[in-house]
Formats: sequence, C-alpha cells, structure tokens
Amino acid sequence: MSQDTLFARILAGKSRPNPYPLYAIMRKTPVARQTDGTYVVSSYDAIYRLLYDPRLSSEDLPPPLLHWTGNPIKDLIIDPIKEQIRARHRPFIFRDPPDHDVLRRRVMREFSPERVRAMRGKTEKIAHDLIDNCQSREQIDLVDNFSYPLPVTVICELLGIPREDEPQFQGWATQLATALDPDQRSDEENWKKSQITFDQISAYMQALIDRKRADPQEDMLLGLATYKDPSDGRMNNYDLISTAVLLLVAGHETTVNLITNGMLTLLRHPEHLERLRATPAMAPRLVEELLRYEPPVHYRTRLALAEIEIGGVKIPKGTPVVLLLAAGSRDPDRFPDPDCFDPDRESNTHFGFGGSLHYCVGAPLARIEGEVALVALARRLLNPRLVETVPRYHPGASLRGPRHLPIAIDGIID
Ligand code: HEM
Repeated sequence: MSQDTLFARILAGKSRPNPYPLYAIMRKTPVARQTDGTYVVSSYDAIYRLLYDPRLSSEDLPPPLLHWTGNPIKDLIIDPIKEQIRARHRPFIFRDPPDHDVLRRRVMREFSPERVRAMRGKTEKIAHDLIDNCQSREQIDLVDNFSYPLPVTVICELLGIPREDEPQFQGWATQLATALDPDQRSDEENWKKSQITFDQISAYMQALIDRKRADPQEDMLLGLATYKDPSDGRMNNYDLISTAVLLLVAGHETTVNLITNGMLTLLRHPEHLERLRATPAMAPRLVEELLRYEPPVHYRTRLALAEIEIGGVKIPKGTPVVLLLAAGSRDPDRFPDPDCFDPDRESNTHFGFGGSLHYCVGAPLARIEGEVALVALARRLLNPRLVETVPRYHPGASLRGPRHLPIAIDGIID
C-alpha cells in the first residue's frame, strides 16, 4: 500500500476506532508526500523539529466564501466586506508571530496559576452534580450525561458566562469545533453553518462584554476586555471576540474526548481503574499517559513558508504539512513499548498538547478537568461495564473521540 493511500485510510471513518496500526506503517516513511501535494509527518523526531521550525506557518485561512451570484451589489460590495470582517476575526491559533504572540500573552496573563487552581474545587462540584443526576439509572451515556456538559460548564464559569446561557453555548461549541478540525473545515456546507454560528456567538459576546463593562466582576472575559497593555493598549473587539470563542471551542471537544477516551481506556484496563479508585493521587500520571496513548487531538496542519529539508525529504515552499501528533506520541524510537497503556512510564513528553509557540494555553486547566472527572467516575460508579466493545465515533479524524459511550452500572455511590 502506498503512503498516499495510507493517509486516506487514516481519514476514512472505518479507521476511527483504531488508527494506531496505520500510524505504525505511516512512520516507516516519516515524511510522506501525498498525491495532492500535502506532506504527512509521523515520526517523533521529525514532528518535534517541525513544531519548532519558524518556516512552518499556522496561518491557513479557511476557504473563501465568495461566489459569483451575478448581483453586482452582493458580489462586489457586500460579500467582500463580509469576507474582510471574517478574516479579521481570526483566532490566534491560526496566526503567526508577532500577532500570535501579542494575543497569546494576554490570554496567558488571564490563565494565572491562582485562577486555574481555583477551578479544581469548582470542577469537582460540577462533576459530582452531573454524577448525582445519574442516580437510579442502570445505564448512562458517558458523553451525553457527563463528558459533554462538564467542560462547557467549566469554560462558562472561567469566562464568566451566566449559567442560564450555557445550553446555548453547548450547541454553539459543537458546531464551531468543526471549524478547528482540519478534515471538516474543507466541507463548504459545514463551513457556512459555522459562520452563521460565529455571527450568533459574536453578537452574544459583544452584548455580554458591554454588560460586564457596565457592571464589572472578576472573570477572564472582563480581564481580557479591560486589560491595557503598556505597549499597545486594549484588545480590539475583533480579537476579543475571536479569542473568547477560541477558548470555548479549543477547550470543549478536546476535553470531552480526554474524559471519554480516558474512561474507555480504564474500562478496557480494569486494573488501572481499580488503582485509580484506591489511589486518586495517581491521577496526574494517568492523565499524562492518556494524552499520549489516546490523545484528543491527532493532527494539526501547517503551511511551509519556505523549502524545508527534513529526514532527507525536501518539502517545497507553499505546501500544506500535516503533523501527525498522535503517531509521534506512539513512536517506538521515543517511547518504549508505545502501544502499552502504562501510567508509570518514566519520561512522557508526548504531543498531546502540541509543542512550541502554539502549545495549548489551556493545558493546566485540561489536566485538572481530566483528573477530577476520572477520579470522580472511578470512585462513584458502582461496577461500571462497557455495553459495546467498540463505541460509535465522531466523524473527525483530528479531534477524535466516541460520539456515545454507553456504560452499564449497578448504581451510584454517595
Ligand atoms: C484535553 C484537552 C485539550 C487538548 C488535548 C488540547 C490540545 C491542544 C493542542 C494539540 C494545541 C496545539 C494546536 C496547534 O499546534 O495548532 C492546542 C492549542 C490551544 N488550546 Fe488546547 N487542548 C485542550 C484543552 C484546552 C482548554 C481547556 C483550553 C482553554 C480553555 C484550550 C485552549 C487552547 C488554545 C487557546 C490554543 C491555541 C494556542 C496557540 O495557538 O498559541 N485547550 N490545544
């Protein structure tokens, strides 16, 4: 099988439950050219070097929505203006330095260790409330009943979104997550839907920020809106809204998948579930290993700004490059026995949160959410069992995780 056919097979829905054997074959050609000109990079060493290479850009603008309708007012005036506005709403995950660094610094300032630490207790309360709601059930769907609502509530709490608006946020987050997923961004219908959602959430955020300015309270959104940088003043409204939306979107589906993949892995390795129940202090190591073994983000795409030579292959200027992070995190040249789930691993510098200048800003919060969620589930679900050996997955190959995870239980422990 050629490397080209191989990546197409990785993207196909059939491979979703277990893409890892295909990654192992892919790694035999660590930098592989596809027939459409894209390069797929799959070894730990090559991914690491490219994550730190400034010649790779994250500025992959979405496909333009401009279509000739024959109406000159729409084609020449309205649509180009709309398009320009949308281009300005570009979150910093899709920007390069120096713009990227300026915006990221502001967000990092808001992710202070005290604020993140304070989220542990709040996350515990959210997790236990969700489990309480499952009392007197014989079966739960872990995704719908637990993993899905938990991160939205956490992000709303962090940003300062009123509780009553949360259900609306769940729907928005789901649609917008597809805009971050490289294999769903090219679907034009889907892209249009995301734009409509983005317009709705922007209007909502704008109104909320105005209300917060009138009645200030300590939260991340107000912090971002009011902070005056000594060098370039306040954040403009485009950046403010796209940053708030990015935090919601980047922090939602990823965390849902960490919790769901985590529980699925524990139910497939009951000895570790038992250990976690008996020793919750092992949660940080366990979450770290999950981020390597079953990561929520499997790949990210970049664009080569210049010709780059790596692993004896020349990647031409202007070509898209897929960094197959999940294949790198299972590379036997970096991790002994990589297909074994081993929370006691000595050195675990995986690519679960990416690396270098786009390294996940929410990583400390995501770790807390993963730890709290899995400890609570391990302690409180009585005799949990998988109902299906292989769950149904979301379509995305990059943001990979089960759509449902039915679990049979004998009750909820108080
Ligand atoms: C388990 C959960 C999570 C995983 C696996 C994850 C994974 C990642 C990865 C792989 C990247 C790098 C993207 C790239 O290189 O293009 C990233 C970036 C990012 N993540 Fe996360 N993330 C998680 C949770 C969160 C949370 C909770 C937040 C915020 C509330 C967040 C906010 C961000 C942001 C803003 C970026 C862009 C950083 C930049 O471009 O400088 N993430 N994340």
